[in-house]
Amino acid sequence: MPTIPPNVRGAVITGWGTALPPKVLTNHDLEQTLDTSDHWIVERTGIRERHVGGTTVGLSVESGRKALDMSGVDPATIDALVLATTTPDRTVPASSATVQKELGLRCGAFDLNAACSGFVYGLVQAHGLIAMGAKKILVIGTDTLARITDWDDRNTAILFADGSGAVVLEAVEGEGQLLGWDLDADGSAERFLYSDIGGFIHMDGKEVFRRAVRIMVDSATKSMGHAGCTADEIKLVVPHQANLRIIQAACDRLGIPIERAATVLQHTGNTSSASIPLALADALDNSRVQQGDLVLLVGFGAGMTAASAVLRWGGSTDAPVMM
Ligand code: UT7
Repeated sequence: MPTIPPNVRGAVITGWGTALPPKVLTNHDLEQTLDTSDHWIVERTGIRERHVGGTTVGLSVESGRKALDMSGVDPATIDALVLATTTPDRTVPASSATVQKELGLRCGAFDLNAACSGFVYGLVQAHGLIAMGAKKILVIGTDTLARITDWDDRNTAILFADGSGAVVLEAVEGEGQLLGWDLDADGSAERFLYSDIGGFIHMDGKEVFRRAVRIMVDSATKSMGHAGCTADEIKLVVPHQANLRIIQAACDRLGIPIERAATVLQHTGNTSSASIPLALADALDNSRVQQGDLVLLVGFGAGMTAASAVLRWGGSTDAPVMM
């Protein structure tokens, strides 16, 4: 993947928001219907509970509205809506079209499916639009995996859940937050994680685990190379929230202490496109990121896709947000 050319107009995140359905399903709830245990799930994944319910449109509208409110941006001035999702509510039209209407946006809107890497794909895509003249973009990552999960299959039912996270990106003069990025896919691995239309998720957990660690490390290393930084300069890594052991293994190989990783999967499970923005928002809400800090986002998912981005929080200090 290319490095960012000099003098490209950049962007900064000026607002964020999240949404989780109110219904909580604990590991103990799953013990009632599956041959599993809270102990096994916590030990093998780190997950204790997850939220299930709602629609992709409904959750997206909730997180998107919060991000818009926080940024103070008038919805009518948003130039594009990118909705990363692998679980749209309908085949046609795209869920983003309905979200666009509900939020009062007057702009182009499209769904983007890169599975659990979708939010980072969307963020990179949005930076491309900003380089081409767009000024304000809403990027949302939402998934409602409960609808495509076989709740009788203990291989997958313990992992997947629903949620949404959103950010508002605004153009700045000069360098923005994004310093380096990488997008990847390997279609030859699609058989390890898939869901046919109208069907449930099928997964070879061990194979996905093995590949996940490798491709996260590969992608993150490329992004850091493009950004011209090293792992010890990363203040916060925001990984896809699939399994604490995957996060631990990837951090170990990258040489980033696990204490620098943002995790919410203990309470959200794996929410696919929503997982990185949920973890990012949690870290931001808890003041884990200061102006100038380097933040590494890194995801992997069905496809198998991988995506990463290095952001310098706040972007250039002297960069006025364009009106
Ligand atoms: O967004 C990407 C989505 N997917 C992923 O990230 C999945 C990546 N893979 C994983 O997270 C892990 O492979 C799993 C959590 C899915 C499974 O963990 P594991 O450590 O790879 O377990 P395993 O499949 O090797 O199974 C170990 C044992 C087996 O029993 P035996 O053969 O050792 O007697 C399984 O039958 O655990 C058993 N087992 C379970 N026991 C209780 C498998 N699933 C369960 C379960 N509850 N849910």
